[in-house]
Amino acid sequence: MPLVTSKEMFEKAYAGGYAIGAFNVNNMEIVQGITEAAKEENAPIILQVSAGARKYAKHVYLMKLVDAAIEDTGLPICLHLDHGADFEVCKSCIDGGFTSVMIDGSSHPFAENIEVTKKVVEYAHERGVCVEGELGQLAGVEDDVKVESHSYTDPDQVQEFVERTGVDSLAIAIGTSHGAYKFKPGQTPLLRFDILDEVSRRLPGFPIVLHGASSVIPELVAKINRYGGAMPDAIGIPEDMLRQAAKSAVCKINIDSDLRLAMTASIREHMALHPGDFDPRQYLSPARGAIKDMVKRKIANVLGCSGKA
Ligand code: G3H
Ligand code: 13P
Ligand code: ZN
Repeated sequence: MPLVTSKEMFEKAYAGGYAIGAFNVNNMEIVQGITEAAKEENAPIILQVSAGARKYAKHVYLMKLVDAAIEDTGLPICLHLDHGADFEVCKSCIDGGFTSVMIDGSSHPFAENIEVTKKVVEYAHERGVCVEGELGQLAGVEDDVKVESHSYTDPDQVQEFVERTGVDSLAIAIGTSHGAYKFKPGQTPLLRFDILDEVSRRLPGFPIVLHGASSVIPELVAKINRYGGAMPDAIGIPEDMLRQAAKSAVCKINIDSDLRLAMTASIREHMALHPGDFDPRQYLSPARGAIKDMVKRKIANVLGCSGKA
């Protein structure tokens, strides 16, 4: 089976009241952990690659890893560029075989965001590739960019943006943020469901995307710190809020930090308990298992897409 686009996945997810997990990949163990979980759950899956991941692992290696995962699992897999910063990186991923790209023009003024997004859509659609755009800005750290506070999506802009660009899905800012530090200690997590509802009302049947949707499980942070880590208190998005979003127009939920935390906690624990080990397979096997367990947890607690492949 070749790579698939997200189009059909989103149509089914919208109608079925569930979401597809979009998980960031950087190496073989992460690809295997995610796709083994999806296989066992018979869940549709999006593997996404950031510019940083592409630089780290190289495009050609990532393509072959994802091809291998399709051959190994037989699952429908969509390969997506996460946070494409400009037309060139989107073009390079489209030409290189991705089936979906995000053009993230959210830091530009509205008119410029429309302009660059439209240009990517025209190029992508001629080649059968889907495009995700973004309106509003998330707080948090993503690659080298740190954004201090949210600019919530303005529902008054979404119809015009979608109509003028032709995007296939839209990422919005409702209070999720990138990284592990989403809320300050003592703060109560809040998502602006009023904005999500209003956006969905203005765009009936249209797939919405949530970035920055890791839940930052406290036990994982505690485990990292127990085994020599030094993470400050970290608060993520409660899973029940994300489950609620997945039942609505939200069809794609992006998760990266929770996988990083699961992998890091596993490796730290292994090294602390087996200080004599120096064979990477000894610590990467449980780390891959930790990724798999986390993806299964997300499918069950957040996405609701088990059995939907
Ligand atoms: O939203 C960004 C993702 O977490 C990817 O992070 O750019 O450090 O690979 P990265
Ligand atoms: P997290 O940092 O919450 O995992 O978000 C990942 C993301 O949005 C990737 O685009
Ligand atoms: Zn993101």
